[in-house]
This record gives sequence, structure tokens and C-alpha cells, in this order.
Amino acid sequence: MERIAGGRDGAIVRVSGPLVEVEGAKDLSMLELLALGPRSISAETVAIAGTRATLQAYEYTGGLKAGDRAAPTGGQLSALLGPGLLGQVFDGLMRPLSSAPLWLTPERAESAAEPTVLTREWTFRPEASTGTRVGTGDVLGTVPESGAVVHRVLVPAGVSGELSWLAAECRVHVLDTVAVVDGRNVSLAEPCPVRRPRPFRSRLSDTVPLHTGQRVLDLMFPVARGAAAAVPGGFGTGKTMMLQQIAKWSDADVIVYVGCGERGNEMADVLDGLSQLEDGRTGGKLIDRTVIIANTSNMPMMAREASIFTGITVAEYYRDMGYNAVVIADSTSRWAEALREFANRNGDLPAEEGYPANLASELAAFYERAGRVTTLGGTTASVTVIGAVSPPGGDMTEPVTTDSQRFVRCLWTLDRDLAYSRHYPAVSWTGSFARDADAVGSWHAANGDPGWAGRRARAAALLAESDRLAELADIIGASSLPGHERVALLGGRLLRDGVLMQNALSPNDGFCSAGKGAALLDLVLDVVDACQALVARGVAATTIEQTDLGPVLRAREDAGPADAAAVRARRDEVLKALEVLR
Ligand SMILES: Nc1ncnc2c1ncn2[C@@H]1O[C@H](COP(=O)(O)OP(=O)(O)O)[C@@H](O)[C@H]1O
Ligand SMILES: [Mg+2]
Repeated sequence: MERIAGGRDGAIVRVSGPLVEVEGAKDLSMLELLALGPRSISAETVAIAGTRATLQAYEYTGGLKAGDRAAPTGGQLSALLGPGLLGQVFDGLMRPLSSAPLWLTPERAESAAEPTVLTREWTFRPEASTGTRVGTGDVLGTVPESGAVVHRVLVPAGVSGELSWLAAECRVHVLDTVAVVDGRNVSLAEPCPVRRPRPFRSRLSDTVPLHTGQRVLDLMFPVARGAAAAVPGGFGTGKTMMLQQIAKWSDADVIVYVGCGERGNEMADVLDGLSQLEDGRTGGKLIDRTVIIANTSNMPMMAREASIFTGITVAEYYRDMGYNAVVIADSTSRWAEALREFANRNGDLPAEEGYPANLASELAAFYERAGRVTTLGGTTASVTVIGAVSPPGGDMTEPVTTDSQRFVRCLWTLDRDLAYSRHYPAVSWTGSFARDADAVGSWHAANGDPGWAGRRARAAALLAESDRLAELADIIGASSLPGHERVALLGGRLLRDGVLMQNALSPNDGFCSAGKGAALLDLVLDVVDACQALVARGVAATTIEQTDLGPVLRAREDAGPADAAAVRARRDEVLKALEVLR
């Protein structure tokens, strides 16, 4: 734990919101953290000119005065990461908002003596042999944390050498020494700078999908583990709802949910939802695999930036233990606003729409930390990053939206018209993309579903065709279209309402297994084929349109979340009913 390095102190000369200028702090380096004034407010060095430095404060600067002490800490913005993160809520500086045990910035070393930190005991089980050589990322032992996640205590970054001592199984506190490597004490919790990506051995190039449980994503715009996705959408188009569904249902081991500059009650919703829901895969509660970092709209603006980077660092921390982690950030636009506010106060020359010129590189620094890797310890693990973007007025040409698109593998654009017509999730099939879709198709083919890519291609073609015909029908009237085109129109509606729409609030429909999703799409495509065959045999399109296809639309609600068999049974019934029309 780093202590405040005495003798280098400077004094505050100017404060303007989160911008603080300091005179006389010695040997400052860029990004070094300082503790300001009597409350030891955290602030990061963002510019140095001679004896003067410009700092970005992460907390309210109310009460700071010219002449107040500015004490360099010798460290960078860091989080003390150890067991006790899961199931807890932290602020942007990783300080517990509930009863979590850790205080996490360097200048808070004294505060780490908080009773909650010292009184919480963990069971450490050694898993290495003394006398052997170990290196960064090697497992020293384990600590059962919460639910299904076993906390692995690793050799920290930059440390390697002989493991000269390892504790036997024992009850310890987070800052107690459990091992000595190359003469250095290692404890359960170690400080970790948040702006620097945690090291790993190598990136993996093969593609494995993350199953989100949301059909429109899993069937049409799949995201790979270790990829980045952005969710742009105007106010009320369902960004938060979709991200919360992903937090609840995706098949990840650990979820880090960063609430950045959005309403506080939404964070309360996440917490409530997760505390009540069971994790189908482990039988525990979903909250036991989740770390929540809350930096809501009423909290200090610059801490939004800290929350984004601490969030991704926490995810990397679990990745390094061998887990598949997902970071969800809602919303990256509020973080960009904080960057803009600071740049404007600093007098930086504004680029597009007042955002700083380095907006794109800041967004890249965030999204590029996604990845599926071989960890230093030699296991395969991933960090998937999903960020909401809230373009003001739904204007998709604004800089945060356009810059984000450049750095992500998946774009899930939420469409205002779909949301207004209550088609949720309002993922636009014309404005979204998934660059890994072909590779995901190969994965499915190798893992028991060779039909995945063909099914997706047919669905995309049907959507495009029915969109085109709907426009035509608006002009000339649907009844003037030939029979096979009327069936395509009908098929488009079945696909949209019966497969792509998904009611987040429904116990049967909120989550959808891969098998049920495939069965629902097959149901619609087979019904469309049967209808086309009827038209080809001379059956009037009107007759088909008057047939009750309600069972197709209701299948997603009627069948259980993973009940593909029930959907297939439904298909056989509907096809039999259509048979009668021949
Ligand atoms: N999948 C869904 N199922 C049902 N309702 C939804 C769904 N997605 C969004 N909604 C509705 O839309 C409203 C606004 O969604 P929200 O996620 O808060 O929008 P945003 O975060 O984009 O402003 C929600 O309160 C809910 O009523
Ligand atoms: Mg929202």
C-alpha cells in the first residue's frame, strides 16, 4: 500500500469545478495521484508545466481553498482488488456504497484500516508449493468468495521468483501476508492501477459466442466473448433495459455493471432484480456474480471517468483468475460529457460538438481492453465490453456514436420507431452489425447447430424483403401484391413479432435459450415455406392471411425459457393446420 510521500507537497493555486492547479509539487509525473486539502480529495495529474501542474479531481472540490496542501501519493489511480467485490456496490473510486470491505485508492491507505476491512475474514487455501519458482499470474491459493466464483490469489504484476513461504490453510484478512515471493510479501488484496490494461500472455483469435439470452442478438447480431459492443439509442429506446437483461442472463461468470451518470433508481433496480433472481447455471443468486459500480447523475462528474476504468480493471482482475467477465457501461455518453466539461474548463481547443480532440482515443482505450486471452497463468478467459451510447436527440451522427462504431465488433442500434411501436428490444436490423457473425456461425456448426448461419441469412433476407414490400404496399395497397409477396409480408410480421420481439418482463420470454431461439426461428421459416407452397399450388393469399397464426406469435410466451421441444410441437400443429388448406 502506497503512503503519501512527504516533502514533495505543493499548494493549490486555482480551482474551477473539477480542474485544480497546483504550484510547487516536486517531481510530479503524469497521471500521478495527489491528495488535496483537508479531505484528501483524489486528483490526477493531467498536465505539467514547470513547477505548475493541472489536476483532474475525482471528487467534489467544494471547500477547497487556494493555499491548501496538494500531496503527491507516488501512485496512480488504483483500486485495491481482493475478495469481497462480488455482490457489492461501489462508487467510481471503488469505495463501498454498501457494506463492502475495501477502500481503494492509494491515498486512502489509512482508511483501509476501516473496521469492515479488518474484521472480515476469509479462508485461504494454499495451492502452490514452497521452494518452486512462480511468476505473475500464477495461482498461490484460493478463497471461496461468493456463489460459484472461487477467488484465486495470484502472484501480482511485476513479481516473480522463488516462493519462499506460503501460508497453510487459515483464516486471514485481506491485507495479511499469505505468501512471500522473491522476498516480497503478497496479500489477498493488491493495488492495481486502473488506466493501464492488466497484462496477459496472448490474444486468442478463435471465436466463441457469448450467449446473451436475447434472441435478436443471439440469432441476428451475435457478440463473441472478448469482443466489444455498443448500444446507441435515443432516450427511452430501451438501452438500460437491454443491458440489464444481458447482466441477468448472459452466460458469463462475472458481470461488472457500471452505472455512469444515469439515474440512481436504475442502479437500485439492477440490485433488486439481481438479488431476487437465481442463477440457473449455479443455483446461487445472480447478484453473487455481479460487481456494481455506481456513479449516478447526482455524483461527482469526473468520477464517471474513474468508474469506467475501475470497472474494466475489475473485469480484467477476474479474467486473470480464469473467468469470462462482461463489463456493462451505461452510459458512455455521460462519461464523454465529463471529458468535455473538463476539456472546456481547461481551455482545450474543442473539436466536434465541443468534445476534446482525444475523444476517439479515450473511447478506444476503453473498448480495446476487451479481449479473449491466454492469461499469464495459462488459462483461457475473456473480458467482453458492452457500452450504451445516448446520442442527444437520438442523432446517430454525433461524435460519441460515430467514434464508438469504429472500435466495436457489434453495433446494436436501438430504433426510435420500433420503440414507439413497443417493439422491444428495439434493435434495428438495418442499422446494426455483428462483424463476428460468420465466425459465430462456424462455432455453432462445430457445436451441434449446423443450421445457424443459414437460418440467420434467411431471416435477414425475409426482413429486408418484407420491409421493401411494406413500403410498396403503402403506395399500391397490399391487396395488389402477388400472392408470394403477400406471404413474404406476413412472414416478416411473424418474424418480428414472434421471434425478434422479446418481453423483458415475462418469466417465459425474458430469457431465451439458444435451442428455443433456434426453434422459434425455424417455426416461422417453416410456416413461411408452407404458406409459399400453398400459394404456388393456387391457394389464395387471402385464405392464408385469414388462417389463425396466433399460435406462432404466442409460442415465445407459451413455451418455457429453454423449452425448444414445446416450440417444435407447436410447429407441427401449425403446419398440420395449414395442410388442410391444400
Ligand atoms: N425488452 C423490453 N421489454 C419490455 N419493455 C421494455 C423492453 N425494453 C424497454 N422497455 C420499455 O421501455 C422503457 C424505457 O427503457 P429504458 O431501458 O429505460 O430506455 P433508455 O435507457 O434507452 O432510456 C422501459 O421502462 C420499458 O417500459
Ligand atoms: Mg437508460
